[in-house]
Amino acid sequence: MGRFLIEGGKKLEGEVKVSGAKNAVLPILAGTVLSQGECRIGRVPKLRDVKVMKEVLESLGAVVKEENDEMVVDSSNLDSYEIADSLMRKMRATVFLMGPLVARFGQVKISQPGGCSIGPRPIDLHLKGLKALGVEFVQKHGCLEGKAKNLKGAEIHLDFPSVGATENIMMAATRAKGKTVIYNAAREPEIVDLQNFLNRLGAKVRGAGTDVIKIKGVDKLKSIDYQVIPDRIEAGTFLVASAITKGDLIVNDIIPEHIESVIAKLVEAGVNLQVDGDKIRVKGNISWDGVNIKTLPYPGFATDMQAQLMTFLSIAKGTSVVTETIFENRLKHADELRRMGANIKIEGNSAIVQGVNKLSGTTVEATDLRAGAALVLAGLAAEGETIVENIYHIDRGYERLTEKLSNLGAQISRTD
Ligand code: EPZ
Repeated sequence: MGRFLIEGGKKLEGEVKVSGAKNAVLPILAGTVLSQGECRIGRVPKLRDVKVMKEVLESLGAVVKEENDEMVVDSSNLDSYEIADSLMRKMRATVFLMGPLVARFGQVKISQPGGCSIGPRPIDLHLKGLKALGVEFVQKHGCLEGKAKNLKGAEIHLDFPSVGATENIMMAATRAKGKTVIYNAAREPEIVDLQNFLNRLGAKVRGAGTDVIKIKGVDKLKSIDYQVIPDRIEAGTFLVASAITKGDLIVNDIIPEHIESVIAKLVEAGVNLQVDGDKIRVKGNISWDGVNIKTLPYPGFATDMQAQLMTFLSIAKGTSVVTETIFENRLKHADELRRMGANIKIEGNSAIVQGVNKLSGTTVEATDLRAGAALVLAGLAAEGETIVENIYHIDRGYERLTEKLSNLGAQISRTD
């Protein structure tokens, strides 16, 4: 299952360039199904989840070539609208293919996606939106089959600004007859990136980044080249890595406004942080203050940065309250941090974090992608050696993490 060995106490110094955004490239790769030609996607991170998406596209009949950090997807001969259960089980983001497949074939067949360690992850909002566009679903033998004679534009009100549901509905609506309006749409930067990609294909999507997105259906979508945005969560993780190791790190080639909420919290905690164009420099201080965090849909504080901040706050001066409102079960990293000496009490969906002087290295277990990242940060700051188990979770969202951290002065290695 793979493990990281980390010798703590080393300051991170130098510069790091983050990779393309996992949560932008996955829906965009799914969206190449709409083009019926060849699309060249740039700044594609080499991640486990991207590898699975490539397998899924190939299982549908696409020809996918990797050229450095580009992925060329030729979906002209796509001949299936069915995603194998084995692939669905590997990654729930295969759900993003529902919209494009019903738009292209008027049909889709997937197995009911499972939950994962951070929560049950239902897809009721995805189904509600697609049904509004005219898709009829039948559930049998654990499979979900969707059929639509023709997709018709509709007004859709999302009960919750779900990122995935917004993206699936956007992609299906590009080929629906007439106009679709999504109310209470998710506003994440990855939604804006998907809109820009779809419009380059020839779709007519407006309003991404706000809570109302309008889509006018078109008959055909062409093939194009497109470069995805930098990964805001990887960027935020490195900012915390510099602050927690009292280092001096420049994270470059990023879009700072995508992590405004994280920047504001780090500054509130007393971190010395300078934004300069597409770079952010963090010079770690000797100490920092506890702050309260409450995760919210964008532009609120990103749930994908909650675990990393909890690690940072576990050795802050004073007490912090970290409240997770997006996922039902995303505080499990607290148990592992406690094993390293953190003083954290869970009350409902909040963690009361009393800052301690230091964390001490031991063996801990990654339970999901961002919890794993939080434990790497803890190992970088802890006294002695930390072993992080089950690092396949971390490989899903961080490209060449060992190499990037070692280049900055960390003492980290991996054994698979
Ligand atoms: C996306 O997941 C991201 N994944 C997640 O990143 C991220 O944490 C999440 O958005 C929130 O920002 C990708 O983009 C691949 P949601 P998604 O639909 O689309 C509930 C990471 O670490 N919900 O906005 O699944 C759901 O259970 C990952 O990179 C429904 O109830 O997120 C959750 O509690 C983790 N019904 C909440 O909404 C639905 O139909 C947010 O889910 C859909 C969602």
